[in-house]
Amino acid sequence: MEQIQDTIQRRAGEVEEIICKWLPEETGLQHTVLEAMNYSVLAGGKRLRPMLMQEVYRMFGGTGREIEPLMAAIEMIHTYSLVHDDLPAMDNDEYRRGRKTTHAVYGEAMGILAGDGLLNLAWETAMQAFSLDEQDGGEPGEEAARLGRIAKAVKVLARKAGVYGMIGGQTADIEAEEARQVTMEQLLFIHEHKTAALIQASMMVGAILAGADESHVRQMEKCAYDIGIAFQIQDDILDITGSMEELGKPIGSDEKNHKQTYVTIRGLEDSAAEVERLSREAMEILSSVEGDSSFLQALTEYLIHRRK
Ligand code: IPE
Ligand code: IPE
Ligand code: MG
Ligand code: MG
Ligand code: MG
Repeated sequence: MEQIQDTIQRRAGEVEEIICKWLPEETGLQHTVLEAMNYSVLAGGKRLRPMLMQEVYRMFGGTGREIEPLMAAIEMIHTYSLVHDDLPAMDNDEYRRGRKTTHAVYGEAMGILAGDGLLNLAWETAMQAFSLDEQDGGEPGEEAARLGRIAKAVKVLARKAGVYGMIGGQTADIEAEEARQVTMEQLLFIHEHKTAALIQASMMVGAILAGADESHVRQMEKCAYDIGIAFQIQDDILDITGSMEELGKPIGSDEKNHKQTYVTIRGLEDSAAEVERLSREAMEILSSVEGDSSFLQALTEYLIHRRK
């Protein structure tokens, strides 16, 4: 049987092929920003969010291609968040995904514009779902329902990526940098918004497009909350115990920026235990769903001990 890390790698490759189809051509007088956008997306990365989206879609019985532009869109939004997160005004980091950060290669102005470009292209790409998979001769009501699901999915993505989601979390994260004390409540707000929100968007969009009912969409939101918080705690652990070679980004970024993290508040051991507890909770939710959740469960378990 294929080992889980091999399955994840194979899946990441499949996801990447889909994402690549939606990337821009590097032409015109604006080619520099287009190059910077492609540079940041094509640097690699785990492709976790589109992978989760695709698998939740399948778990709830989705079979169409309309999920593909949404998979590309979430990776574009995630990548833009990283490009901006690395800027001198934010975390000021020089390496990402094993290569120089976008601003380090193209300059700060292009780093800002490439992030903007990716965010906008994400919406343009997501909207393409409306014109895919139209079924000739299908019931008119069915087509209307399909379009309604896409609209709902795009709305969730917008909310979770914006000031009530990821951007809100990044705001609180930056403002907490110089705070002498950060409470656990504040920290959970930061983790929920800066990190869990895009994971929630991924899993909720997958469920919505597959036609899952409201209670299942809420279940995915809760499950992704657990996975997302665990993911950020593990990121904070790896910022101390990881290595540049494995992570493809510098360690010690949090300390450099005087950031309080789960680890500075609770210590390494408790943090690792919390990653495990949250992940098991997520796996329970997954196992209660009727569809085949075996890959999602294995992936969640794998993430507990991830080194990158
Ligand atoms: C990094 O996300 C930012 C966090 C939310 C911790 P990932 O660890 O998923 O980064 P890539 O996509 O694999 O580079
Ligand atoms: C960033 O958290 C989360 C984002 C929304 C980009 P971090 O600042 O800890 O992410 P890394 O460690 O730079 O990937
Ligand atoms: Mg940051
Ligand atoms: Mg950072
Ligand atoms: Mg980090």
